[in-house]
Amino acid sequence: MKSALVTVLALLAYAYAQSVKIAAPAANSHITTTENVLIEVERPNSQTPSRDVAVLIGLRSCPNGDCDSVADSSALGTILYGGAYSPIPRTGGGAMYENYTVLIPDSVGTGSALLSVAHFYAGGVLNSPAIDQTNIVVQVDSA
Ligand SMILES: *[C@@H]1O[C@H](CO)[C@@H](O)[C@H](O)[C@H]1NC(C)=O
Repeated sequence: MKSALVTVLALLAYAYAQSVKIAAPAANSHITTTENVLIEVERPNSQTPSRDVAVLIGLRSCPNGDCDSVADSSALGTILYGGAYSPIPRTGGGAMYENYTVLIPDSVGTGSALLSVAHFYAGGVLNSPAIDQTNIVVQVDSA
């Protein structure tokens, strides 16, 4: 039992090590409907072998400004991008990243919204498939 728990904890720590984060825009940035936004999806340049596959980038309006409940549901809302994730090392080493330029649709409500990235990859020497997800709150202004 104890070893099973240790294994689970090790797997969680392992999964975390591969997790992506949104390096841009900054949390609470203002974005505008019908305009393009540059999204930088970053992951650590870890020693553990892993193979990146894809990301889904979603934007979901937060009812009454409550983004915590939106984050808890993990639903992505409007998909701004879905496709390959092939990050490259930042100049001078460090994290790996890829830029995506996405259009903010007119249909996304104004006010607080959750910008989410779900990341699919195969990790470890045995290529275990895994998904991690990260979010930031942004402020949507109308054009
Ligand atoms: C990614 O976007 C940033 C601006 O946020 C820019 O400085 C950088 O050169 C871009 N990288 C690539 C590979 O296009």
